[in-house]
Amino acid sequence: MHTLLLMVLCAALHCASSDSHQDADIETLMDNVLVLRVPHSPGTRFHVPLICGEAHQNQPVFWKKNGIRLLLPPLEGNQVSVLVEEMDAGNYSCHLSPDGQYLNHTLVLVRLNPDNMSVILEESDSGEGHIQCSGHNYNGSFHCGWTRQPSRSRAAVLLVRAERNSVEIPCELDADGSGVSCQDAKCIFEEERHRISVTVYIHSVSRLEGYTTAFYLRDIVRPEHLPNLSYSEGGLFTWDNPDSWQKPCSFFSLEFEVLVVYHEETCDAADILFKINEIEVNNYTVSVKNKKYVFCVRARDKHTQGPWGDWSHYV
Ligand SMILES: *[C@@H]1O[C@H](CO)[C@@H](O)[C@H](O)[C@H]1NC(C)=O
Ligand SMILES: *[C@@H]1O[C@H](CO)[C@@H](O)[C@H](O)[C@H]1NC(C)=O
Ligand SMILES: *[C@@H]1O[C@H](CO)[C@@H](O)[C@H](O)[C@H]1NC(C)=O
Ligand SMILES: *[C@@H]1O[C@H](CO)[C@@H](O)[C@H](O)[C@H]1NC(C)=O
Ligand SMILES: *[C@@H]1O[C@H](CO)[C@@H](O)[C@H](O)[C@H]1NC(C)=O
Ligand SMILES: *[C@@H]1O[C@H](CO)[C@@H](O)[C@H](O)[C@H]1NC(C)=O
Repeated sequence: MHTLLLMVLCAALHCASSDSHQDADIETLMDNVLVLRVPHSPGTRFHVPLICGEAHQNQPVFWKKNGIRLLLPPLEGNQVSVLVEEMDAGNYSCHLSPDGQYLNHTLVLVRLNPDNMSVILEESDSGEGHIQCSGHNYNGSFHCGWTRQPSRSRAAVLLVRAERNSVEIPCELDADGSGVSCQDAKCIFEEERHRISVTVYIHSVSRLEGYTTAFYLRDIVRPEHLPNLSYSEGGLFTWDNPDSWQKPCSFFSLEFEVLVVYHEETCDAADILFKINEIEVNNYTVSVKNKKYVFCVRARDKHTQGPWGDWSHYV
């Protein structure tokens, strides 16, 4: 009895102390998902109204949170209000009887306002932010990937929205939930005037974060690995353009960079023999004599000078 009194008192005091009582800012993110936008101040509590469904107005309705019946106080009725404290939200389901038939559910998630803390995804080392996108050509297919923080490895993607100039771009989530493949319907020869924007909504238990990136295709097109890299007498190296690279070659030109590194080194070696930029043909003759070396070559779009593709090497 005393504990109960204390709890009531504490609750009353808490209300009194938070003089600037904000209204809950609730958004419907998608069917069956409500998002509570909460300010950064600690100790926030909000009442969230839930409804089981119009059809259940005159039926007995019992609620569960994350599959467990709510008893203190019991949550019953078609329209109820639940108290969400800090990040303690959850999946509220309504049922016909205390352990009976499932009727409907509402997933309540909490998102900081402003959403500026980023605890679920890792930021890339290469300065590309939390979402990294790339394409192999200009046909509109691109892939975006992300990495969860080790402590949030079970965070689940709820929704991915991609669009350009308010036109939705269809995307499909990768099986492991750490990327999406999208297909923009743009003409490959058309000049891009609007950026593509991609927003990923991901949640870890009740905490929801939204991550957005925006780019032109020309900024993310990276040629694939260069095939058929071969060597012939006299130090001549030749290679082909990737099969996935846009044709005609006269319109979509590549430029190459050649790097020659010491024997048994990788193409990322700090110590190199030499490097040649702005090669516009698919061959190069190395004139290093009597020495073992590794030949590396990579490509990028000559006109946009977009990102470099990965190195291909010949030992
Ligand atoms: C189920 O609940 C959602 C809210 O999460 C509501 O929008 C929807 O209309 C309900 N569905 C039915 C069939 O009542
Ligand atoms: C929420 O609960 C409903 C009903 O039990 C279930 O179908 C749904 O998958 C749950 N959603 C999440 C995100 O756990
Ligand atoms: C996020 O925004 C809040 C409120 O504007 C601010 O107090 C906080 O310092 C910001 N945090 C970061 C990491 O930027
Ligand atoms: C690689 O070389 C083979 C044999 O010459 C050729 O059939 C193939 O088309 C080449 N690949 C590319 C991507 O050009
Ligand atoms: C675009 O090019 C990629 C890479 O070659 C290919 O996988 C994809 O199927 C192409 N998409 C369309 C619509 O042609
Ligand atoms: C290198 O490539 C260019 C352009 O395709 C070609 O004209 C030239 O003959 C090639 N050089 C050698 C040595 O194969």
